[in-house]
Amino acid sequence: MKKFLAILLAAIMVLGLCSFASAEVKTYKVGVAIYQYTDNFMTLYRNEIEAYFKTLETDDVKYEVMPADGKNDMAEQIILNLVQTSSADAVIDEIVAAGIPLVLINREPLGDNGDESYEGILNNPQVCYVGADARQSGTFQGEMVCELDNHGDINGDGKISYVMIEGDPENVDAQYRTEFSIKALKDAGYEVECLDDQVGNWDQTKGQELCANALNIYGDKVEVVFCNNDAMALGAATAIVAAGRTVGEDIYLLGVDALEDAVEKVKIGEMTGTVLNDHIGQSHAAVDVAVKLLNGEEIQNYYWIDYVKVNKAYVDAM
Ligand code: GAL
Repeated sequence: MKKFLAILLAAIMVLGLCSFASAEVKTYKVGVAIYQYTDNFMTLYRNEIEAYFKTLETDDVKYEVMPADGKNDMAEQIILNLVQTSSADAVIDEIVAAGIPLVLINREPLGDNGDESYEGILNNPQVCYVGADARQSGTFQGEMVCELDNHGDINGDGKISYVMIEGDPENVDAQYRTEFSIKALKDAGYEVECLDDQVGNWDQTKGQELCANALNIYGDKVEVVFCNNDAMALGAATAIVAAGRTVGEDIYLLGVDALEDAVEKVKIGEMTGTVLNDHIGQSHAAVDVAVKLLNGEEIQNYYWIDYVKVNKAYVDAM
């Protein structure tokens, strides 16, 4: 049960909304629960949610953002709802029954048939998901390799030999990026060889360790290192330098998120590419739909924000 709850807590990020009025000023309390504060990308995302709410304030309407740190009422309430549930559906039902509209962000719950038609979202007019289609980010990673002169086949043996460093395997972003990056290579007609596929849980130190290990075992055979996110790619970049390898010459390295440090590495050639995971677009869409819910307006079930390919040509044109 404990393990289940931990997984559930990690898998669901919730904006829980309620409001109170005093004199003429109406203050909306917005609970924002993020799965892990140490996550680089989700820190950018969370900060932008707060900043964007601030820009929407007027003399009459204020937003009190309550980050879920387990100490405030709203966070307690959200956690309590999770403690009492045995499935994501039940989580949503309880929160909705408590009169709290929900905006699910960043981690897409999939429906029974494995696609984006999650019944708990489709059946609830006060629940929606705001995110980016992780398949697109994987496809973009693969395409950036296909677009290279040697399309990733550095040693000319007719196949692209790669190492995959995955995020949290429970997370659809990790699953889709792993699958669709390689699918893009195969769809373009290239042969691929997976040398190593390990779980780095989105973490920079883990990314470095796993990449160092793979380079140690497979050496020059490693032509491309795919990381499901930039934090792990930044770790991998360190391991690549330590192993005496040079990105763009004898190895390629791809991430996702377009963290500032990663974009800088693409610019100076220490990473082959990354994919913009638009935390500004996503957080603004999440806040906008939250405000709509607060105002009792109708909302869609899903809001999608596009990823963008970030390779050297793109960064140079920025
Ligand atoms: C992904 C992002 C990762 C990590 C993860 C958390 O979209 O690329 O870096 O933040 O979300 O769920």
